[in-house]
Amino acid sequence: MARVMTEAKGGGALRDRVILVTGAGQGIGRAAAICFAQHGATVALHGRSVIKLESVYDEIVAAGAPQPAIIPLDLEKAGDRDFENLADSIHTRLGRLDGILHNAALGAIPSPLRTHTTAQWLSLLRVNLVAPFALTRACLPLLEAAPDAAIVLISETHGPAPAAFWGAFSIAKGALLSLATIWTQELEHAPQLRINVLVPGPVNSPQRSRTHPGEEKAGLRMPESLMSTYLYWIGPESRGQSGNLVQC
Ligand SMILES: NC(=O)c1ccc[n+]([C@@H]2O[C@H](COP(=O)([O-])OP(=O)(O)OC[C@H]3O[C@@H](n4cnc5c(N)ncnc54)[C@H](OP(=O)(O)O)[C@@H]3O)[C@@H](O)[C@H]2O)c1
Repeated sequence: MARVMTEAKGGGALRDRVILVTGAGQGIGRAAAICFAQHGATVALHGRSVIKLESVYDEIVAAGAPQPAIIPLDLEKAGDRDFENLADSIHTRLGRLDGILHNAALGAIPSPLRTHTTAQWLSLLRVNLVAPFALTRACLPLLEAAPDAAIVLISETHGPAPAAFWGAFSIAKGALLSLATIWTQELEHAPQLRINVLVPGPVNSPQRSRTHPGEEKAGLRMPESLMSTYLYWIGPESRGQSGNLVQC
């Protein structure tokens, strides 16, 4: 995969677009959902906790941005029918889909492989790898029908560079790079549809607090600092660019 760096110029870049943000209830996903709405998108807010999604919904509506939709689904338990129902729900309620930000993730406290269980591995692989694949597949007819569509996969530093103690999280996040390469090749017939992988780097969020409990928060970037780059890759400026690995 090519490694590139890019930022959006801003403005109402996402006007009239429908964007699905997974894990929109907190952290980086919350910031992305609010940012995309502020730039004109109708956002499909996905997550597990409806209470958290309602809080994001309220903030978007209060700001006068397009009315979002709340679509809860537990990615760890979901099967093909659930992903298809989610895509159907977007089609019925919002009429179209122009992008997916695959942001939701199940983090893991770093620990040696010898202590891991298969149950932990399956949970990490289901949420962090299987769900981005299956959700993309279910939404493909909607994305292929859009005039300009973007799929953005969110990886992590230990995806492209696996390291001790990061186990199945690292493996799932690394496999997203392969997933993007395969989708890119298989979607060559649809040049209006692109798929790219972003690596945010260390950001202050609930997940970061769990995986790095002793870390000094003051030096960490806030989720909002990523949004110019996220906007570029989910919006029209990245048209024609697919299969990239982007370090934010
Ligand atoms: N923060 C960082 O430093 C950092 C660095 C590199 C990469 N990233 C990546 O950036 C993304 C966002 O990170 P973050 O730090 O903002 O994470 P976060 O605060 O833990 O938020 C993760 C989101 O994923 C959702 N989620 C988790 N398990 C789910 C499940 N089974 N079904 C449905 N939704 C589920 C959560 O929804 P609920 O709250 O509703 O459960 C939550 O909204 C992740 O892909 C992460 O790997 C983050």
